[in-house]
Amino acid sequence: MAKILIATVKPFSAEAVAEVKRVLSEANHDVEVLEKYPDQSALINAVRDPDALIIRSDIVDRQVLEAAKNLKIVVRAGAGYDNVDLEAATEKGVVVMNTPGQNSNAVAELAFGMMVYMNRNGFTPSAGIELRGKKLGIHAYGYVGRIVGMIGKGFGMKVYAFDPFIDRIFIENDGVVYAENVRELYSKCQYLSLHLPSTTETRGSVNFDLLNLMPEGATLVNTARKEVIDEGGLLKMFRERPDFRYLSDIAPDCKEELETNFRERCFFTPKKMGAQTAEANKNAGIAAARQIVRFLEKGDTTFKVN
Ligand code: 3PG
Repeated sequence: MAKILIATVKPFSAEAVAEVKRVLSEANHDVEVLEKYPDQSALINAVRDPDALIIRSDIVDRQVLEAAKNLKIVVRAGAGYDNVDLEAATEKGVVVMNTPGQNSNAVAELAFGMMVYMNRNGFTPSAGIELRGKKLGIHAYGYVGRIVGMIGKGFGMKVYAFDPFIDRIFIENDGVVYAENVRELYSKCQYLSLHLPSTTETRGSVNFDLLNLMPEGATLVNTARKEVIDEGGLLKMFRERPDFRYLSDIAPDCKEELETNFRERCFFTPKKMGAQTAEANKNAGIAAARQIVRFLEKGDTTFKVN
């Protein structure tokens, strides 16, 4: 019997927690839940005993890993694992996994929710604009990007994608236009949806030079990570391009400046909520629980990222 801790500053729905607990207790594991904890010290205290940890965007840094003497596995219930210190985990022999694809639909739907909200002037009666017939660029064609492409086609948009790690044939098979390079993607599309992970290569890579290639009506949609944007370039875009709009599920550091000066052209969700649906909570939570069970019982390391 192992001890599993579900540590989520931003809790899963109660139904999802119940399902996760059911999966783990059916496999004879003990489950503890730490939700909405006030600071890192609460997490550090809670990780001392557990063998396994389920988290969301919770920060699992070296300090947490050092306190977690029995820890064997951390599963990030979600896609991005930039919140986990992989190097420290590897040094300590802790396996880190994510649950790719499990919350993608929720994130993709939010991208369109924000586009429609902005195009309809915040759901006010003044005349808005439609998505139909516009070009949508998908920057990074992973699980979320792919669903964004499908939904975009449903809206009647012409969809383009760029991803240096995905073959042309895979993108074209989805009826999506393959962009040869990132500059081509930005030059063609009025709407640009970001699905990049935050890595040393991608941080700050969406910069003024790239954004300024976008045609009239340039709208950047970010449901990925704020770090991929060069905020100096973002501000310059707002100042130099009166047509530019930015919608994000992860407020930038320069949020206040943007909201003060360009309120009509930006929108930020009050708190990151892309993956916050009943379905995504359940899918990602249950996947994390099952991965832990398989790892503890059979040593299965599918979805290991370190
Ligand atoms: C992810 O990486 O899976 C998404 O950004 C969702 O993150 P969250 O679990 O913190 O909502």
